[in-house]
Amino acid sequence: MLGIFQFISLACGIVISFFPDEIDRVTGRWRQPPDADPADITRWPTDISRDIVPVSCHSHNDYWRRVPLYSAIEAGCTGVEADVWLFDDELFVGHTRAALTPSRTLRKMYIDPLMKILGKQNPITHFHPDTDQPRNGVFDTDPSQTLVLLIDFKTDGEEAWNYVYTQLTPLRESGYLTYYNGSDIINGPITVVGTGNAPFNRIAASTTYRDIFFDAPLNRLVNNVDRIDINTRLKGRTGNAGQGMSGISDGDIRPDTFNLTNSYYASVSFKKAVGVPWMLHLTDRQIQTIRAQIRAAHRQGLKVRYWGTPDWPRSLRNHVWRVLASEGADMLNVDDLVSATRKDWAPSFSDWWH
Ligand SMILES: *[C@@H]1O[C@H](CO)[C@@H](O)[C@H](O)[C@H]1NC(C)=O
Ligand SMILES: *[C@@H]1O[C@H](CO)[C@@H](O)[C@H](O)[C@H]1NC(C)=O
Repeated sequence: MLGIFQFISLACGIVISFFPDEIDRVTGRWRQPPDADPADITRWPTDISRDIVPVSCHSHNDYWRRVPLYSAIEAGCTGVEADVWLFDDELFVGHTRAALTPSRTLRKMYIDPLMKILGKQNPITHFHPDTDQPRNGVFDTDPSQTLVLLIDFKTDGEEAWNYVYTQLTPLRESGYLTYYNGSDIINGPITVVGTGNAPFNRIAASTTYRDIFFDAPLNRLVNNVDRIDINTRLKGRTGNAGQGMSGISDGDIRPDTFNLTNSYYASVSFKKAVGVPWMLHLTDRQIQTIRAQIRAAHRQGLKVRYWGTPDWPRSLRNHVWRVLASEGADMLNVDDLVSATRKDWAPSFSDWWH
């Protein structure tokens, strides 16, 4: 019996390896001439997400893919990430400063395409005169599924804040954003989360309306673990202190500071919080750490995301993903959309046999 399972999985593995870049292949039919405007989707099918079942993966460095944003949606990823840089009153998108080009802006690569996709998902026609309440999301198979737009503030957070807030206006005015109304979270098709230098003080400033949520420091939700290390480095800093630490002074962070009224994710660098897996395996102690962090985040209503998980060798990456998934982490950060969505790393039936 075991032999048969192994044979089948091996055979599937071989078939799949013929299509190493399946996502690009699928989206290839949408590919545009190199000089085309990346945001022009007029040639794209209207039923953009038909047959796509959303999964909890988060497409990191989404703009590296040939068809940014759409690749992630096509793969069923429920989150995309854009690293934004403020220069000359415009928000540019790129992993590094050197990668920036004039046409790669937040507006062109994310806001405008999302407006177009959501416009198609929420049509106003003779037959359908009113938009649905709540609005439909980007996934046809599950219209209530939100897509997380994770905006990583790369430059000064305080300076970039108003630009990001203003650029979200079309999504906000169309009722597409998840927001906090002073007492409840109202889910929308797009949930915007600020990370990097995104300032907590600006996110939490209004007590009656918020539609950008914080990426809370996961390791700080667990009682005072890691305290000493962070204290010595960041004492008194409130500015651009990176993910989970910007716009709030270190002394003001308590395990209950972050909850679903002001934050969406609780994240941390895997390497920093858990450490490097020894001998390609997580130790019991590391798994305990993960478990405690996940429990603390869930208590606060936040979704857990580890970033910087090892991606090589593949067996280690899959081991880590499996542990995270089985411990209840909510989002996998992926550079490799195909493997993440294919779930070949998920605990499989054959695992019961050994
Ligand atoms: C927020 O929205 C909920 C659900 O629609 C509603 O019951 C509640 O009264 C609203 N809260 C405020 C402060 O407007
Ligand atoms: C969320 O946290 C803030 C502090 O950051 C606190 O004032 C608020 O009462 C908390 N809300 C809930 C619903 O826990």
